[in-house]
Amino acid sequence: MATRRICIYGIEDTVVKQLDGFDVAVSTSTREELRTSIGAEDICALILDLDVHDAIDVIIESLEMKSHLAIVGVTGSSDVNRIIQAQRAGCKQFASRPIDRMDLTTALTGALQDAPAPAVASDVDSRTIAVIGSMGGAGATTLSCYLSMALAERAKTTALIDVDFEFGMVAKSWDLSPRHTIHDLCQFDVLDRQNVEDVMIELPSGVSVLPRPARIQEAQEIDEAALKEIVGLISTWFPFVVLDLPRRLDARTGCAIELCDKLIIVCQQTVAGVINAGRLTDGLLEFGVSLDQIEFVINRYNTKIHSVTEEQLEKRVNKKPIGLVPNHYKSVGAASDLGEPVATRNPVRKAISEIAAALVGDGSPGSGSRWMASLGIGG
Ligand SMILES: Nc1ncnc2c1ncn2[C@@H]1O[C@H](COP(=O)(O)OP(=O)(O)OP(=O)(O)O)[C@@H](O)[C@H]1O
Ligand SMILES: [Mg+2]
Repeated sequence: MATRRICIYGIEDTVVKQLDGFDVAVSTSTREELRTSIGAEDICALILDLDVHDAIDVIIESLEMKSHLAIVGVTGSSDVNRIIQAQRAGCKQFASRPIDRMDLTTALTGALQDAPAPAVASDVDSRTIAVIGSMGGAGATTLSCYLSMALAERAKTTALIDVDFEFGMVAKSWDLSPRHTIHDLCQFDVLDRQNVEDVMIELPSGVSVLPRPARIQEAQEIDEAALKEIVGLISTWFPFVVLDLPRRLDARTGCAIELCDKLIIVCQQTVAGVINAGRLTDGLLEFGVSLDQIEFVINRYNTKIHSVTEEQLEKRVNKKPIGLVPNHYKSVGAASDLGEPVATRNPVRKAISEIAAALVGDGSPGSGSRWMASLGIGG
């Protein structure tokens, strides 16, 4: 977000008031003032003097009041036990005295990244599905778009967020010329549903698109904390949130993968496709993602052209693909150039509808039908 509001406790140093991207909303010196400020102010972080006698109680009490607060302790002492106590109480990051502006900014940014997303009252039991290609042009955006339509057919609405902030093509796929983008959302100090709805573009299919930034330079201004907040907020009223990911494993993609219930890896029936799907899967498993969370789709499937089989992919990644999407270059390419979806009966669209059905649990093994029923949309 553009400027984040923070609170300080027991710190006089003016450096704290000069942190880029942060605004000291309140400066407190007593517990009473601090309690009132945490209760009344919309703040995301607390910087406190760790050397005051009640610092550990302050951390515990502040987190009891607002569990998502990011906490940074400032200390001039080298008492390791004190640091351990503070860490156990929930202080995520530390900075030493004399305070260095850059060092404190780094600590604050790190604490915010680790802090849980603020709890927002939710209208629905939402599910987030992220889509990534195992190779450039594998079909991740095509799958994200048609999957969103298929999910919207079931649940009436689906959010589609273009997380490929530099080169995303979601809006173009539907010939949209967005007036606002996800970058505009990052300019708000405090986000609410109305801000997000004003930026999303609702299509007749029930898909609401959150477009990538207009200018490529703006992409870098969206960090993972902002992405986490936006996805968290959107999933409070959309039953499905689809994230079209770039083929790049950076902090924002990592954050999106952590947020999703399912990650679909789109691969083609080529040696490179299978090798890279395997490499990506190995990396994700090492990163702590479970194989249950991952699904594989072979796109542009055509046994006349390619000799690599789905069994070879299965052998490499230890999982059967959830779907095979046929190669239909003429219709898909023309539709994408025109910014119109292919017809409902088109085999590509039909195959992706079946993937949607398998994902939400009608008919597929390990179905999530209970979850669909909880939405009141069958299963
Ligand atoms: N099943 C299909 N049959 C024929 N053409 C397809 C199919 N799926 C995708 N395409 C075409 O392949 C091209 C790449 O697709 P898409 O943009 O969805 O891939 P991507 O993985 O998102 O690419 P990028 O790596 O650039 O993000 C597009 O021209 C698209 O129209
Ligand atoms: Mg793409």
